[in-house]
Amino acid sequence: MYEIILRKYRRVTKNRPFRDNRTIIYYITLCLLSPALAARGSILEAIAGILRDTNQILSGEPPDATVILPEYDFIIIGAGTAGCVLSNRLTEVKDFKVLLIEAGGSEQPYMDIPVLATMLQFTDANWNYHTEPQKGGCRGMRGGRCAWPRGRVVGGSSVLHSMMHTRGNRKDYDRWAANGNPGWDFDSVLKYFKKSENVQIPKLAKNKKYRSTKGEMMLQHPNWRTPLSDAFLQAGVETGGKIIDYNAEKQIGYSIIQFTMNNGSRMSANKAFLHPINGRQNFHVVKNAMVTRILIDPWSKRAYGVEFNKDGTKYSITVRREVILSAGAINSPQLLMISGIGPRDHLTENNITTIVDLPVGYNLQDHWALGGLTFVINTTDSIRSERVATFDNIIEYFSHHTGPLSAPSGTEAIAFFDTKNPDDDDGYPDLELLFVGGSLVSQPTYKEAFSIDNRVYDKVYGPIQNSDTWMVFPMLLLPQSRGRIMLRDKNPYQKPIIHANYFSDGGHDQKVILHGIRKAIELSKTKAFQKYNSRLHDIPLPNCARYKFNSDDYWYCAMRTITNTIYHHCCTNKMGPRDDPEAVVDSRLRVYGIRGLRVVDASIMPHVPAAHTNAPTMMVAEKAADMIKQDWGVPINYR
Ligand SMILES: Cc1cc2nc3c(=O)[nH]c(=O)nc-3n(C[C@H](O)[C@H](O)[C@H](O)COP(=O)(O)OP(=O)(O)OC[C@H]3O[C@@H](n4cnc5c(N)ncnc54)[C@H](O)[C@@H]3O)c2cc1C
Ligand SMILES: *[C@@H]1O[C@H](CO)[C@@H](O)[C@H](O)[C@H]1NC(C)=O
Ligand SMILES: *[C@@H]1O[C@H](CO)[C@@H](O)[C@H](O)[C@H]1NC(C)=O
Ligand SMILES: *[C@@H]1O[C@H](CO)[C@@H](O)[C@H](O)[C@H]1NC(C)=O
Repeated sequence: MYEIILRKYRRVTKNRPFRDNRTIIYYITLCLLSPALAARGSILEAIAGILRDTNQILSGEPPDATVILPEYDFIIIGAGTAGCVLSNRLTEVKDFKVLLIEAGGSEQPYMDIPVLATMLQFTDANWNYHTEPQKGGCRGMRGGRCAWPRGRVVGGSSVLHSMMHTRGNRKDYDRWAANGNPGWDFDSVLKYFKKSENVQIPKLAKNKKYRSTKGEMMLQHPNWRTPLSDAFLQAGVETGGKIIDYNAEKQIGYSIIQFTMNNGSRMSANKAFLHPINGRQNFHVVKNAMVTRILIDPWSKRAYGVEFNKDGTKYSITVRREVILSAGAINSPQLLMISGIGPRDHLTENNITTIVDLPVGYNLQDHWALGGLTFVINTTDSIRSERVATFDNIIEYFSHHTGPLSAPSGTEAIAFFDTKNPDDDDGYPDLELLFVGGSLVSQPTYKEAFSIDNRVYDKVYGPIQNSDTWMVFPMLLLPQSRGRIMLRDKNPYQKPIIHANYFSDGGHDQKVILHGIRKAIELSKTKAFQKYNSRLHDIPLPNCARYKFNSDDYWYCAMRTITNTIYHHCCTNKMGPRDDPEAVVDSRLRVYGIRGLRVVDASIMPHVPAAHTNAPTMMVAEKAADMIKQDWGVPINYR
């Protein structure tokens, strides 16, 4: 009986995504009959799972405030990675009344399903920015513009991000300190990295010097990944690399990624830091509220409040202590400039009266990679959306949070290299290889998310549309190019101008990426990857066809064509000493020349660390919270 139904079920579904009601009926019958299948989850279990997840997310998040007071001790602008950490730590102090203002709405239950990460970019939880066309990069993107998504939702970019948790190298922070920022050296900030994390990987958690299990942010390896990620690690070992915990002492080596996930679902900054403080009496959140100006008294130069719009009503709320700007690396400089803090010539051009002349918006940095470096294989082991979105997998995810739906966007493993000192196993990585168990062809949304020109895409990837593939992003970690954020005009609803200026540094950046391309090709030739008959996809990009395929010049052209941001925009309100002409904030993150105003987010980083920037941003916010408490005479680690 069971055999007959199973055969029939297989014929009906042909392992394709769920198509019609018959599939459900066969499935229910099967689940009822088969203890084996029930182990992967049953429909009833899955429905219970959906209800539980939905309830947890919707009732866990602090509600939109029904009463807004005329004055608070602190106003935090932006409920992103930094804003969530700060809200949690500052409201530990009962005397601090805190208002958190967020332009986006509540985090929704589907946002926590790891496999959907890229798709969230098509919702209104994305600010949906694009770079200006430039000579140096993004030539194969629509209109010559690269997509720069940013989160507009409670949780900010930590709701859209791919959940990779990397701290960077000791030298990153020692360099921040050496440039005149006391207290930011690695030995001083390590405790803040540890403070937020809760490592769920027992082997790594044992290293108490570097890791912790006491923080709010859960970290785990993915519950599901392709066997190709093991091939990537084996290929690393075959070519002389080591397997490491890159969030411990040394970074050079290979690893399965550590994700900010809890039990197979996304852990946003909202879930980690706001859910636990839902109900604190001294904390209000307003959602769907757009801050349009920071209120600054032009004579005393003190920030005394903020102006925001919510549901068509304009509010002016004042602060007793401080305004804290945590709107992220694009919006924070925009809001400062609109409020009169920025480069005088640029503000004057936009008819804004300058209150303090500071280099706001300069020093923009990012991590970028060659996108689309694809290898075709001869098995069906890679991620393909039609195999992921099956009825079985959906049931399995909602029943147990396991299976392919619990895998974040196909990114599975990572490796770090110091191209300047290749033999130093304690080097300072300037190159990352980010391994994906699929490629642009495995999910139709990738092409859209990266905004790749249709003509380029169809020519190069059309012919392997149905193939199994893997991909590596060879990613630059210590870029020398610098971009800039500028105002389009003084309307806060207008998107700012983003000059990415990729490859504007005179040759360093492209050489590092080339090194990464060569390394990825070397890995593809190892036994580990030849088991899958891995073959470099070699249809040339149409605008690079004048170069010999696989020559250095071909790859330089390719990286300028499919220039892929890894979304680590930062550094636009640089922290530095007073005599640093690029500095906007001091080492306690106070805006120069203004009282009562700090910036706390990825924009204060002096240079981008050799890391994905979410963990470093949490660290910045943890440290800022302690500095704020100290400055107001509250003992730190107050609980
Ligand atoms: C698609 C994507 C993938 C990424 N992948 C990774 C990854 O895998 N690993 C990693 O470490 N990092 C990743 N990052 C980067 C990481 O998410 C960011 O570095 C980090 O979240 C930055 O935190 P933040 O607090 O500076 O800014 P955000 O988290 O962006 O927060 C800013 C908040 O301010 C709000 N805001 C802005 N302007 C206003 C206003 N005027 N009024 C009210 N509110 C406002 C925004 O809506 C937002 O909620 C990714 C980012 C993206 C976009
Ligand atoms: C600035 O103001 C002047 C005079 O009111 C106006 O002509 C000009 O268009 C304004 N410029 C911008 C960028 O708004
Ligand atoms: C993980 O989540 C699943 C489904 O939501 C649940 O059944 C299971 O108990 C959870 N496991 C842990 C360790 O919390
Ligand atoms: C894939 O290629 C490898 C190496 O050529 C070969 O050993 C293996 O049998 C092939 N597998 C399939 C499924 O064709």
